[in-house]
Amino acid sequence: MMRFDNFTILQGDCMKRIAELPDCSVQTIFADPPYFLSNGGISCQSGKQVCVDKGDWDKGGTPEYIYDFNRQWLSLCRSKLKDDGTIWISGTHHNIHVVMRCLQELGYKVLNTITWQKTDPPPNLSCRYFNFSTELIIWARKDAKKPHLFNYETMKQLNGGSQMTDVWRIPAVSRWEKTCGKHPTQKTLRLLYRIILASTNAGDTILDPFSGSGTTGIAANLLGRNYIGIEQDPSFVQLSMRRREEINDPDTFAKLLAKMRENAQEETVLVNHARQTDLPLVLQTGICYLRAGDSKGSLLVKPGFERMGYVLIHTNGENPHLFKVAKKGFQIWTAEQLQQMGFSAEHAPYYAVVRFDPKKEIAYETMPSLVKRSQTTVAEIRPFSDFVELK
Ligand SMILES: C[S@@+](CC[C@H](N)C(=O)[O-])C[C@H]1O[C@@H](n2cnc3c(N)ncnc32)[C@H](O)[C@@H]1O
Repeated sequence: MMRFDNFTILQGDCMKRIAELPDCSVQTIFADPPYFLSNGGISCQSGKQVCVDKGDWDKGGTPEYIYDFNRQWLSLCRSKLKDDGTIWISGTHHNIHVVMRCLQELGYKVLNTITWQKTDPPPNLSCRYFNFSTELIIWARKDAKKPHLFNYETMKQLNGGSQMTDVWRIPAVSRWEKTCGKHPTQKTLRLLYRIILASTNAGDTILDPFSGSGTTGIAANLLGRNYIGIEQDPSFVQLSMRRREEINDPDTFAKLLAKMRENAQEETVLVNHARQTDLPLVLQTGICYLRAGDSKGSLLVKPGFERMGYVLIHTNGENPHLFKVAKKGFQIWTAEQLQQMGFSAEHAPYYAVVRFDPKKEIAYETMPSLVKRSQTTVAEIRPFSDFVELK
């Protein structure tokens, strides 16, 4: 066994080691089992032709072997879940239909089949198939009758304020998450981020019976959850421990957390300076205004503007107030319109106006610095999770 306080890896065969864990102790299981696709095929990596074989552990057997293998580990896992716990299993057509059958036979209730669409798939070299750009992830709960934990609102926030669908567009694993060594089928932290936020709370325990390079554990620890992984290959256990060691450094921890959270669908916050003299009126009327056009202090239409769900009003980087916008989008007002209401709009003929409900201020938890040298008055678009930690 290799461990930090909140990160344990049991080395060995999961068919034996799962049984050693206490019953009803785990909130969520993420499993990335062998897909059994190592059959000598070819793929493309960084522009080069490579063999798709991942290792002996991924070589396919007979259909009976693949069925028995999946049924055995899925059966062992079920008793380890808490009553409101859930399991996620990733796969492709090579294994996922067998997994689905086993789940149904074992009494799990299937909740969703997520389609993970990779935004950056490698080309298909044979040109005899559609390009493979997806993996499937089945989400199931332990018991058909017992309700399961689902952080619905958090998922909505990750999805620009509307219901999260079962199609997730997330890039494949990238170089920034491979600094400690390589695993042939490493998952991206960004996928685990969503899974963990959806189905666990801080302090919960997550199990991964096919731990590989420990991605599930790193994402779990970055989000304040505990991790138990099982991995049969000692070199992958060592790689996982190096990755865990790396986030003991607070700067690396913060850097990986920020990279993991990057999300092209998340709601954003318009961060806007209000003059000290205007602030009481802004907070009373729910009118946030900024120059329209591309000049100092103006509305810079940057990526994420279309997902703006919040405004943060501050004065020279101080005294910030966070609100949900009352209505998505903005209007263009003239300077005269604003001046008639008592605002000091005097530097431009037109202003973009965003309306918010001044009675519904949102408490923020983390306050990143708003002071950027002399540029503090320039409006910015930032992800919501910069201000309120998604739990
Ligand atoms: C698909 S990979 C998991 C990759 C992992 N999600 C990551 O991000 O690094 C599957 C892993 O399960 C391990 N494995 C396969 N069969 C196993 C078994 N019976 N018990 C424990 N580990 C096993 C393999 O060595 C491999 O590292």
